[in-house]
Amino acid sequence: MGDNMSDSDTLDHESEREETESFDTEPHPNLYRHGRRYSLTHLEQHPWPIDEIEKDRLEEQHVLLRELFEDRLYLAPIESPQNVLDIRTGTGCWAMECAERYPSSTVRGIDLVNMQDEWVPPNCEFWVDNLCQPGWHTQYKNIDFVHINQVQGDRQLLSLLLEGSYSCCAPGAWVEIRDMRVQLDNPDEDSPFHNYVRKMTTAHARDGRQLDLPLHFGAELTRHGFSNVTERTYDIPLCTEGRDKLKGRIMQNWTAGLEGYSFTLLEKHLGKNFTESVLMCASARRALKGKIEGYLQIQVVYGQKPG
Ligand SMILES: C[S@@+](CC[C@H](N)C(=O)[O-])C[C@H]1O[C@@H](n2cnc3c(N)ncnc32)[C@H](O)[C@@H]1O
Repeated sequence: MGDNMSDSDTLDHESEREETESFDTEPHPNLYRHGRRYSLTHLEQHPWPIDEIEKDRLEEQHVLLRELFEDRLYLAPIESPQNVLDIRTGTGCWAMECAERYPSSTVRGIDLVNMQDEWVPPNCEFWVDNLCQPGWHTQYKNIDFVHINQVQGDRQLLSLLLEGSYSCCAPGAWVEIRDMRVQLDNPDEDSPFHNYVRKMTTAHARDGRQLDLPLHFGAELTRHGFSNVTERTYDIPLCTEGRDKLKGRIMQNWTAGLEGYSFTLLEKHLGKNFTESVLMCASARRALKGKIEGYLQIQVVYGQKPG
């Protein structure tokens, strides 16, 4: 999007936050577009906002999904992980909670940008690192649990993450990947939501991303040498006003992210302007007040490095 910047875009250097030793101390240039803040440096890898609005939404999503998982932070059968990586940690809320639950552990959250809070439990650290670089894993050793939430359709990145995880994990360690995708019963139907999903699928494909990637997590774990691969799917009805309160709130949280997730890709790959994207998202959200046949599927897949 750097090439498409208009006069209304603004840049700044993030200087307001206090760094801790584990943060990269280089300032990250930001790009402001239509009231949202993006990382200018990393726009290619992460064309989505990294601002307070998105942080709040991700933190709420973390709380809602923890409730869906019956207060578990993960489903892999490891009782008390001691040396943990949270890859693409985002806000770092999962990493911090894991560190609090297992005080004898060391939890490291890794991300391109520092979106995390300033207050961090003593056994939790955040590292700024680009996981697209082969060899990202060499500084981590004897890991017993790797947690990955959301790879946003990037198959090449997933492969690098699994290769790296396999290398830095101790024998017997677990890797868990989690993500969400839309499963429509009648994908060709003509509703604003179906239309939105079709457009986003095309935009992602043109960006080298596949929205059905979670369906391949199990096979990818196996291909990268992990065993005891186990998959679990949670089906959330495509309705923001359904009878199940928790599932309705998960959908509301998901739909609150539509604009942020759409602007850059719809503009870059389908030439949609801001107003067109806003209208498309608003119509999709309105359609979800009634029931759309299908599910928001939450896929959780874990596997173990052979002992
Ligand atoms: C959806 S967000 C994080 C979700 C987070 N795991 C959670 O549970 O809330 C995806 C994160 O991936 C990070 N990311 C994207 N590409 C990356 C890369 N190449 N290396 C490291 N982090 C990356 C982004 O900065 C962003 O914070």
